Amino acid sequence: MYTQGLDQAGKDRRVAAETEELLNAFQKRVDAEEKIEAKDWMPEAYRRTLIRQISQHAHSEIIGMQPEGNWLTRAPSLKRKAILLAKVQDEAGHGLYLYSAAETLGVSRDQMVADLLSGKAKYSSIFNYPTLSWADIGAIGWLVDGAAIMNQIPLCRCSYGPYARAMVRVCKEESFHQRQGFDIMHSLCLGTAAQKAMAQDALDRWWWPSLMMFGPNDSESTHSAQSMAWKIKRFSNDELRQKFVDVTVQQADFLGLSVPDDELRFDDETGHYQFGEINWQELFDVIAGNGPCNKQRLEKRQRAHTDGAWVREAAQAYASKQAARAAA
Ligand SMILES: [Fe+2]
Ligand SMILES: [Fe+2]
Repeated sequence: MYTQGLDQAGKDRRVAAETEELLNAFQKRVDAEEKIEAKDWMPEAYRRTLIRQISQHAHSEIIGMQPEGNWLTRAPSLKRKAILLAKVQDEAGHGLYLYSAAETLGVSRDQMVADLLSGKAKYSSIFNYPTLSWADIGAIGWLVDGAAIMNQIPLCRCSYGPYARAMVRVCKEESFHQRQGFDIMHSLCLGTAAQKAMAQDALDRWWWPSLMMFGPNDSESTHSAQSMAWKIKRFSNDELRQKFVDVTVQQADFLGLSVPDDELRFDDETGHYQFGEINWQELFDVIAGNGPCNKQRLEKRQRAHTDGAWVREAAQAYASKQAARAAA
């Protein structure tokens, strides 16, 4: 639609040879903290990396609505229902901004959606875990949105302008999400023994998957070095994970909850918390499609897409009618 001109520019860029001169000039702009815009020359690998990253991010926002949407009708009060509904709607909005940002790189939304529905595209592993109790909604806001913020604040300074600008608003909303999750946990921890136990159980189940959200250890992370050089990424996976642990362990202490890690301890020398080894096999299994809810999440998304066909057709018919009227 509005990005057809950019699609064309994308094709032209692919034809242009990536001479040393062009690559050096590009890197110089990145090093000088200039924003790269949609119509600017960019290396093909930079474009592909961003399409992969931004579309995965968008898919995660869309699939991420499911575990929480599951609790919309069961939230314990009208106030909690209204807050959760607003939060889930925010996530839909994040998905839409991000699809738009990816479209500026010359990929179509139809293609991205098709890749998600066919199972070819990835989304964050965390959304393949079930939400078993109301406390899980607290744990998701506190831990999952909290981890997302750690990852996404540096993206506001990403070298690619449209992505960086989209992230500014996304991050503001994510910080509300984190606080609403913490507020749910806080209320439960001030409640009855059963409520506090529910909060502890949610932390036990969401802690490790949240640490996995930062991706493999730096030594195993294949795309990291190039993404850092291009200033798409500003901090490594391990640096971000450490920041998250340092902040979150103190919040757990405040709540009176215990983090499910026997090896967790504060290291006076480094000023950081040391933590145990992540079960990497679990992460790789979930990414490979074998998590507890992968199948369910994808099937639900496919069904929603089919059920929503009439909305897309109606919107298209309306747009055509408006365009015909404008032309007349
Ligand atoms: Fe989000
Ligand atoms: Fe969020």
